[in-house]
Amino acid sequence: MRFKGDVIFVTGGAGFIGSAVIRHLLDETDASVVNVDKLTYAACLESIPQAVDHPRYRFAKVDICDARGLRNLFDQYRPAAVMNLAAESHVDRSIDGPAEFIQTNVVGTFTLLQEALRYFRGLDHPAQTRFRFHHISTDEVYGSLGDHGLFHEATPYAPNSPYSASKASSDHLVRAWRETYGLPTLLTNCSNNYGPYHFPEKLIPHMIIKGLAEDPLPVYGDGRNIRDWLYVEDHARALTLVLERGRIGQTYNIGGRNERTNLHVVTTICELLDRLEPSSHGSRQRLISFVADRPGHDRRYAIDAAKLESELGWRAVETFESGLAKTVQWYLDNRSWWQAILERGYKATRIGVLQKTGHSA
Ligand code: NAD
Ligand code: DAU
Repeated sequence: MRFKGDVIFVTGGAGFIGSAVIRHLLDETDASVVNVDKLTYAACLESIPQAVDHPRYRFAKVDICDARGLRNLFDQYRPAAVMNLAAESHVDRSIDGPAEFIQTNVVGTFTLLQEALRYFRGLDHPAQTRFRFHHISTDEVYGSLGDHGLFHEATPYAPNSPYSASKASSDHLVRAWRETYGLPTLLTNCSNNYGPYHFPEKLIPHMIIKGLAEDPLPVYGDGRNIRDWLYVEDHARALTLVLERGRIGQTYNIGGRNERTNLHVVTTICELLDRLEPSSHGSRQRLISFVADRPGHDRRYAIDAAKLESELGWRAVETFESGLAKTVQWYLDNRSWWQAILERGYKATRIGVLQKTGHSA
């Protein structure tokens, strides 16, 4: 009986990873879940089909910057844990408009920590012993790797984008609330996720949707930047395991040992689309088009997940090949999910390229 009788707050539960975590908690554990989400452009409550009328699921439209709203939720639901996935998550958007990233990722995490601490201090000793604050973060806080080496839990922070700087700030706040106030925190830093219900601004769904429309496939720079891909359901399992058995105050890196260049990713998507939905115009690889690089574009990310694997026995189930094939098939089978996002105004145009004059806010 995993988490039997426990209420877990999942902030950002209408987003890509948060929704995968909620699907996993509802399907594989006995936890009751409160999805705390502000419902930004990136949110999609349809990403949790099993939530409809589920007796262990509640939704609360609350901003993590709203202290009063959070306080009411803590008082009402008395959670045993908070998993903080609410964030602005897209690097290109952070280049054009960093203010929202500072607000949600830094001020929001601060506000959530303060309200969690206030609630924690009011618990009796057994409840305090069980309570966890799990902050979900990114490998981008470690900066960029050269051709060799891996990110370890002790790798110094060196964020390069407004997004990663805001996430690094939030990680430091979480550490400080543990060291200074004794809040029982857990921190995980994960590599690039992919899989079902991924908002189409991110590389993999972006290329699937553009490839299906036979639009140009915009590869930034020389296409040789490397990302370390993890299937989102493997990530959801890892997060649940860390929440259940991770050591308080520790950081766990999560990654799938799947380093690929962006060009390899895009080429493989073209091959899968050509096989599953052939085009009368020939291979989609003809659509690949090299475009201006992302400013401050990190060259390579690669995660050493040995601590998580050896301490908690986690292993990624999907290889990059199996996970990508499943993902492309999912986008073919679930067009209504992503077409609804296009219909409500998402344009899939290039963003995050510096303007010559003016500044972003
Ligand atoms: P996402 O953009 O898909 O979803 C974010 C969710 O947070 C949305 O539902 C949004 O409505 C909600 N949200 C945003 N601001 C909020 C606020 N102020 N209050 C309440 N809710 C708010 O993001 P994602 O890709 O699912 O990422 C989730 C977390 O995982 C983020 O913290 C991100 O930094 C981290 N992460 C993501 C990846 C990845 O590859 N996607 C990898 C490592 C870490
Ligand atoms: O590493 C973890 C991070 O992965 C998370 O913390 C972020 O929330 C998540 O968005 C992701 O960041 P990236 O910047 O790596 O992901 P993105 O999908 O935006 O881009 C992946 C790579 O593909 C990157 O090198 C930029 C490139 N790219 C992206 C897009 C959207 C292209 O070449 N063309 C594109 O159209």
